[in-house]
Amino acid sequence: MTTRERGQVFGELAEEYDRVRPGYPAELVTDVLALAGPGPVLEVGAGTGKASVLFAAHDVNLTCLEPDARMAAVLRRRVPGVPVVGTTFEAWAPDRPYGLIVSAQAWHWVDAARRHELAFAALAPGGLLAPFWNVFLVPDGDLYAALAEVDARHGLTGNHTPHSMHPGNLPAGPVPFAEQWPELIGIEALFTDLRTLGYRSARSYRSAEYRAYLSSISIYRMLDDTRRETVLDDTIAVVDAHGGTIDFTVHTYVALARRPT
Ligand SMILES: C[S@@+](CC[C@H](N)C(=O)[O-])C[C@H]1O[C@@H](n2cnc3c(N)ncnc32)[C@H](O)[C@@H]1O
Repeated sequence: MTTRERGQVFGELAEEYDRVRPGYPAELVTDVLALAGPGPVLEVGAGTGKASVLFAAHDVNLTCLEPDARMAAVLRRRVPGVPVVGTTFEAWAPDRPYGLIVSAQAWHWVDAARRHELAFAALAPGGLLAPFWNVFLVPDGDLYAALAEVDARHGLTGNHTPHSMHPGNLPAGPVPFAEQWPELIGIEALFTDLRTLGYRSARSYRSAEYRAYLSSISIYRMLDDTRRETVLDDTIAVVDAHGGTIDFTVHTYVALARRPT
């Protein structure tokens, strides 16, 4: 298991991933499409289509890249008629200029040394790069502290678990783009109009569903089976001791960068 690439573990549970992972705000999709350049839309790391279905509903000319065949099988079912290319972004050759590149919860898996240049090459002048991520926050301070103790005990530190952020961890004021987006450091050398869009929603999981959700996350998937079960048992015991439900405030952030005209 240790030799597996962390970005490629999701297909091990593709159907479950699709069932338990959250989607994205509809407003994000309309906002991003309104800011996009003219032309087709490319989605990098489309997974099972949690974002693809939302873009496809707008009748855009969408192409999806998804390297994992098991994820791509679910994706093809979810967005019939949308071309799905079974490749990484790094191995793909742009077939035409795109007006928009989106990437939901996947841009950090693309080679950091090459991703800006690859996006630049795939976009038309004036085209928009728009990767986005969900950030889960646990507003209940007691539950947050108890889960943090479990994470620390098992060495899961560094904001990698969905319950590792409390609203108090968010910066009080606006953060400069370069600080907010480690995934986009250096992008200003090629792109312009850098800005962030943010959305807030709520999501609750009952403990069994939360266990399934955690099982779909790479940091848990990378643990060996015995260790994963122990960590999940301990985590879910905390949720059960707090009433059996975990409530999240979900912040969804989009990083925008435009290829100059
Ligand atoms: C966390 S999942 C996100 C899937 C989907 N976009 C979503 O929002 O649920 C990350 C996806 O990126 C894919 N992926 C990993 N490395 C990639 C790469 N280099 N290029 C394109 N996709 C990649 C994985 O196969 C996986 O489906």
